[in-house]
Amino acid sequence: MKAIVLKKFGGVENLIVEEINTPKIRDGEVLIKAKAIGINPVDCKTRKGYGAAKRLKLPIILGWDVSGEIVKVNKNSKFNVGDEVFGLINFPGEGKTYAEYVAAPGEHITVKPKNISFAEAAAIPLAALIAYQALVKEGQIQKNSRVFIQGAAGGVGHIAVQIAKNLGAYVIGTASTKNREFLLNLGIDKFIDYTKENFEDIVKNVDIVLDCVGGDVGIKSINIVKDGGKIISIPSPIDEKLSILHPKVKMPWVLVQSNKKDIEHIAELIKSEKLKVHIQKIYSFNEIGEAHTQLERGGNMGKIVIAL
Ligand SMILES: NC(=O)c1ccc[n+]([C@@H]2O[C@H](COP(=O)([O-])OP(=O)(O)OC[C@H]3O[C@@H](n4cnc5c(N)ncnc54)[C@H](OP(=O)(O)O)[C@@H]3O)[C@@H](O)[C@H]2O)c1
Repeated sequence: MKAIVLKKFGGVENLIVEEINTPKIRDGEVLIKAKAIGINPVDCKTRKGYGAAKRLKLPIILGWDVSGEIVKVNKNSKFNVGDEVFGLINFPGEGKTYAEYVAAPGEHITVKPKNISFAEAAAIPLAALIAYQALVKEGQIQKNSRVFIQGAAGGVGHIAVQIAKNLGAYVIGTASTKNREFLLNLGIDKFIDYTKENFEDIVKNVDIVLDCVGGDVGIKSINIVKDGGKIISIPSPIDEKLSILHPKVKMPWVLVQSNKKDIEHIAELIKSEKLKVHIQKIYSFNEIGEAHTQLERGGNMGKIVIAL
């Protein structure tokens, strides 16, 4: 089979399409013929030697998001050959989804809702799982919570907006000018253009900040959270010293996890049309370098996907 193999960390030129053996499935796994692969910032960070790199050994087959059709199952599998599935595979371990065939634990996948394409299904798992695990499991947001999403038009942000709105939260989000209509159409209550406005001058007393940007943006967010509130930072943990200086604001870092129940919940939201993914662009398998470059360049609305 063809796979995209990373033999050394660095630029996109290190993402090489090669012919390798199709993976063998172990107990509890199924073999998926990939139809689409979702691209995430952690793929680019890991390619450069950061992200999940410390947990993996070169050569690496990157990628964690996949959708496709099952072509092989083990005895006692709950899945059948021919099932159309999607999921986040083995995160934060070896996902190996940049390949024509992917060995996936049955616990990390679920049936693809019929109302979405394979490309949409591949775009969803990591972004939707972190949005759900951060806002709902860690943030415990509820009806009327004031939720502030930094980077609301990105892969995670635009899904987080929908999850928070579904739960009846009041949702404020930042993005650049061109994403205003996109976010208003998703139902955001207040849009802040970070290229023209300073969010700290506009908003106060939020219950939860979901920070999808990091750095100074996360640090400045401390000023808009009410006592007892939380900044859930996903790019990286906020410096511990800041939590000592601001004991009334909790600053957890959440790392997404492959999780059967959670991906099934996401699939239900999609089926009932409460959650939609927006795809910025679909690339071919051989265009993996361009796909990484586009994601790293920024300015995207939603997700980048590879279709096979
Ligand atoms: N901890 C975890 O498990 C986990 C899981 C998923 C993602 N992440 C991390 O979370 C981050 C976001 O992921 P993603 O997939 O959403 O990335 P993405 O699709 O690249 O989105 C990032 C968004 O940030 C916006 N942005 C950039 N600078 C901004 C600023 N100063 N203020 C407000 N918005 C700004 C961009 O909007 P414009 O294009 O409008 O500038 C872009 O839409 C990445 O660092 C990723 O590695 C962590």
